[in-house]
Amino acid sequence: MSNTAQIILEGKTYEMPVFEGTEGEKAIDIGKLRDQSSYITLDSGYKNTGATKSAITFLDGELGILSYRGYPIEQLAEKSTFLEVAYLLIFGELPTTEQFATFKTNITRRTLVNEDMRKIFDGFPVNAHPMGVLGALSSALAVFYPSQIDPNKDKAETELHIVRLLAKLPTIAAWAYKNSQGHPLNYPKNKLGYCENFLNMMFAMPTEEYDIDPDIVDALDKLLILHADHEQNCSTSTVRLAGSSQVSLYSAISAGISSLWGPLHGGANQEVIEMLEEIIADGGNVEKYVAKAKDKNDSFRLMGFGHRVYKNFDPRAKIIKVSCDKVLKKLGINDPALEVAKKLEEAALTDPYFIERKLYPNVDFYSGIIYRALGIPTNMFTVMFALGRLPGWIAQWKEMREENQPIGRPRQIYTGYTKRDYKDIGTR
Ligand code: CMC
Repeated sequence: MSNTAQIILEGKTYEMPVFEGTEGEKAIDIGKLRDQSSYITLDSGYKNTGATKSAITFLDGELGILSYRGYPIEQLAEKSTFLEVAYLLIFGELPTTEQFATFKTNITRRTLVNEDMRKIFDGFPVNAHPMGVLGALSSALAVFYPSQIDPNKDKAETELHIVRLLAKLPTIAAWAYKNSQGHPLNYPKNKLGYCENFLNMMFAMPTEEYDIDPDIVDALDKLLILHADHEQNCSTSTVRLAGSSQVSLYSAISAGISSLWGPLHGGANQEVIEMLEEIIADGGNVEKYVAKAKDKNDSFRLMGFGHRVYKNFDPRAKIIKVSCDKVLKKLGINDPALEVAKKLEEAALTDPYFIERKLYPNVDFYSGIIYRALGIPTNMFTVMFALGRLPGWIAQWKEMREENQPIGRPRQIYTGYTKRDYKDIGTR
């Protein structure tokens, strides 16, 4: 195969290098096209633009394949733990027993959040959405731990920031929830594991101990693994773009959290449950909602359906669907939302509109039902996504900085007025 592509513009041929990834994906490197021809490429929503090379996550949307550092998501979800996957994503290899023990201990010892940060919670309204609080508090970490680090030079310092983020975000997340309930905050407990500690901070009350159910811990750990990275999605691209200005890691992560909150991205898991509840309250008429989703004059979309990249099925959704059945059965929960979700999936998957557009349930379709079964309230669903995605954001930020990638700065095609003269209305 030729390792260049020819682009012919106004009769002139430009040779552009072709790059091929380890899984055979091909890209035309147009980095020099503008210098040579004055043309840029236009790709609104970056639908066909590779923003970076990356060795972290591979996904094939046509075949429904997802792997982290080469390990299939199915194997990791079944056999690994979230902290091990976090190590794998961030440092590139599975840890040895000793490396894992050190990593885990370092995280456990840093779960406490500065008392001055705790005071910030008092400034939020009692019913503040936990995602907004999480974004604000993760940004505040940059003020409490200011430092301009270069991951190539300050390796130990970089690892300290990484560990600190992994340790403190669950504490901040649980506190954001407690704050939204008007309840006293719970402090982390070092004797507990990562997910156990989070669940305890979420649900223990001064009036009542919280019994940690190992099945709930397992299910939560698996959900976090499934969310841990997803290559160049909206929030990850945001982390990379913000981080490319060499702003603090905490600020870049905070930007990612804000980006994740949107209903078309991580906010969809909350929207799915709200949609299912709306359908149930409306008599459970699934066909009516499928018709609404197809109606171009109706802004309603089937939340939890469709994906920019997956055009066959979302492998995470497959695992979550099975897990959803298991968790509900184990916990003896009969959630009508699961029945409606299954009917909706069946109706959509046999409908030409969804078939032609290759719209399948995505990771958010069934995850909300599990979160609900685990006792996680609806307004925390996107926060759970953020906790899961954190190692992926960190890994992508680290890779970008270690490769000394340049500041991200897309171009545009201007479509506004051409030059016109100022009309003075005397405001000066
Ligand atoms: N319900 C009904 N129609 C849909 C849906 C849906 N959920 N998703 C896409 N379509 C239609 C869309 O109207 C368009 O139709 P047409 O070709 O006739 O104009 C076609 O399918 C292509 O959609 P698109 O919006 O151009 O596709 P996109 O790649 O820009 O958007 C998406 C991807 C995920 C934003 C979109 O499918 C969507 O809005 N889904 C619902 C929200 C959701 O579940 N988001 C979570 C995504 S997975 C978790 C994550 O990684 O964030």
